[in-house]
Amino acid sequence: MAHNLIFLGPPGAGKGTLAVRAKDLLAVPHISTGNIFREAIAEKSPLGLKVKAIIDAGKLVDDETTVALVRERFTRPDIRSGYILDGFPRTIAQAEALASFSKVDAAVNFDIEDAAVLERLGGRRVCRKCGFNWHRKFNPPINEKVCDKCGGEVYTRDDDKAEAIQKRLAVYREQTAPLTGWYREKGLLVNIDANGNVEEILTLFKKALNL
Ligand code: AP5
Repeated sequence: MAHNLIFLGPPGAGKGTLAVRAKDLLAVPHISTGNIFREAIAEKSPLGLKVKAIIDAGKLVDDETTVALVRERFTRPDIRSGYILDGFPRTIAQAEALASFSKVDAAVNFDIEDAAVLERLGGRRVCRKCGFNWHRKFNPPINEKVCDKCGGEVYTRDDDKAEAIQKRLAVYREQTAPLTGWYREKGLLVNIDANGNVEEILTLFKKALNL
């Protein structure tokens, strides 16, 4: 059975971290619009140059650009086995666009307290090479500047600075949180308590999806 899943929740809820575990479990691609944008920024491609200032400020990239990017990604054959969409959709307009080209099986919502979000984002460190999400307190690499997995440089995302975090949370509440109601009405919403550690959340995820 194909698993067409979207991961919803505030920034720092742990969507990306769980997606890395869940994609292996389900043998589906993990598609993170945030990762695609960050790769474009690192490559200084036309897309990267267009979105850098928007992302660094914690605002959303426009719907047209984001939907076009996901539509293009969905032309690849690996989508037939299912997918985990992490960070998309983020607006009702994006959810409507997605519904026009793919049937979502479940919208998994990461329920988490604000204090936990702030602690996770404030301590997040990312590998520039392989993209792994480390955490200064919860999961630090041996050497704080070097990735244990690939030897890449470990850095702090520009949008993890205090001002951008506040902006991202405000944008989430205004534009993305209404999606939980949208998917609930369609009978697709699955809520997961995301306050625990990664293993606990993985167990709740498997239980919620009968895996
Ligand atoms: P994106 O990269 O999607 O950012 P986000 O949604 O803000 O999500 P995050 O990556 O911040 O958090 P996460 O929930 O994945 O948490 P993580 O697993 O890393 O998007 C970035 C930007 O791109 C957006 O702001 C926007 O500008 C643009 N964009 C992207 N998609 C868009 C769209 N559809 N439309 C318009 N614009 C778009 O975990 C966080 C930290 O906590 C890590 O350090 C991790 O190690 C740690 N951690 C995780 N889980 C646990 C746990 N259980 N216990 C302890 N620590 C944990």
